[in-house]
Amino acid sequence: MSTLKNDRYLRALLRQPVDVTPVWMMRQAGRYLPEYKITRAKAGNFMSLCRNTDLSSEVTLQPLRRYPLDAAILFSDILTIPDAMGLGLWFEYGEGPRFLHPIKSRRDVEKLPIPDPEQDLGYVMNTVRAIRGHLRGSVPLIGFSGSPWTLATYMVEGSSSKVFSKIKQLLYTEPETLHLLLDKLADSVVLYLNGQISAGAQSVMLFDTWGGVLTGADYREFSLYYMHKIVDGLLREHDSRRVPVTLFTKGGGQWLESIAATGCDALGLDWSTDIADARRRVGQKVALQGNMDPSVLYGSPKRIEREVMSILDGFGPGAGHIFNLGHGMHQNVPPAHAGHFVEAVHRLSKPYHY
Ligand code: CP3
Repeated sequence: MSTLKNDRYLRALLRQPVDVTPVWMMRQAGRYLPEYKITRAKAGNFMSLCRNTDLSSEVTLQPLRRYPLDAAILFSDILTIPDAMGLGLWFEYGEGPRFLHPIKSRRDVEKLPIPDPEQDLGYVMNTVRAIRGHLRGSVPLIGFSGSPWTLATYMVEGSSSKVFSKIKQLLYTEPETLHLLLDKLADSVVLYLNGQISAGAQSVMLFDTWGGVLTGADYREFSLYYMHKIVDGLLREHDSRRVPVTLFTKGGGQWLESIAATGCDALGLDWSTDIADARRRVGQKVALQGNMDPSVLYGSPKRIEREVMSILDGFGPGAGHIFNLGHGMHQNVPPAHAGHFVEAVHRLSKPYHY
């Protein structure tokens, strides 16, 4: 087993005692950091950045040089899988993702290949290996993927969406086609995450950013079912250590019991869920990650501290909490505010651990 100097994050995911509450920030590498913008400009565009081992590992490490974060997260994107399936992903600066060949028919779904992680997504595996080398056991590395449902929304809509008209039309008119797509995605995600784990990711997270736009019954059928399948297919131990799995459904606060029943180790919470309530409901079963509104980081250090305090107090004493934002960091947040946030979590959480 490789040694880790700081294993708070992994311990908290397994609800083991820690000295202070571990913290990392969703989208901790990105445009709010001037050094990220410089590296991205060097790469030319976002996908070239992801494909360049040196530059993608460099941006992974940038936030860790500024802040005493308890985990690093692979710099990549959830849309690498659809890209490897041949959909042609591109990003316009400041705009969302776009696919050249979105899914338009059952035939398009039938044609989709299941990408081989080392062959078709080798650039991601190489970045994982490079980051582990650079980290030298300082903090654990988080690998990730999108959930099948969330990936499918981009593949069918062709870009970001607010109303999800195309995928919901597919869901209500051709559910079998959507199931075929989700099933291929679930198989691809299992291979992809197991590839990341074999390459050195020490925990993995599934981002189900758009699960919350479904009805409860549709969530269980079209999102949760496939995340459960993924949890069942993942390597749960590597290098003699448990590899914890975190599931995050944005807007999924009402379904915590069913999400926890998949056998995952932790649930990510957005800020619309009360963390005290979440702990009462599922805290005996899973660890909880979250859940400060990223917009709080616009506030003063005092205001940030107040919010940190209220979340620490909501979770209460003891293990099983990983502090995080309830969604990704905004690009206009002053980097110093992120520093206040991380420092405040460590300082203010001490009394909650004994
Ligand atoms: O530091 C980290 O957190 C690691 C890197 C990371 C990125 N995307 C980099 C990125 C992670 C974990 C993601 C996940 C991701 N990507 C999600 C799930 C989490 C969430 O935010 O809900 C989703 C839905 C995507 C898809 C995606 N990628 C969108 C919608 C966008 C455009 C929005 C935006 O912020 O511009 C991206 C691009 C993207 N992914 C950027 C970064 C840093 C910005 C791209 C740029 O530099 O222009």
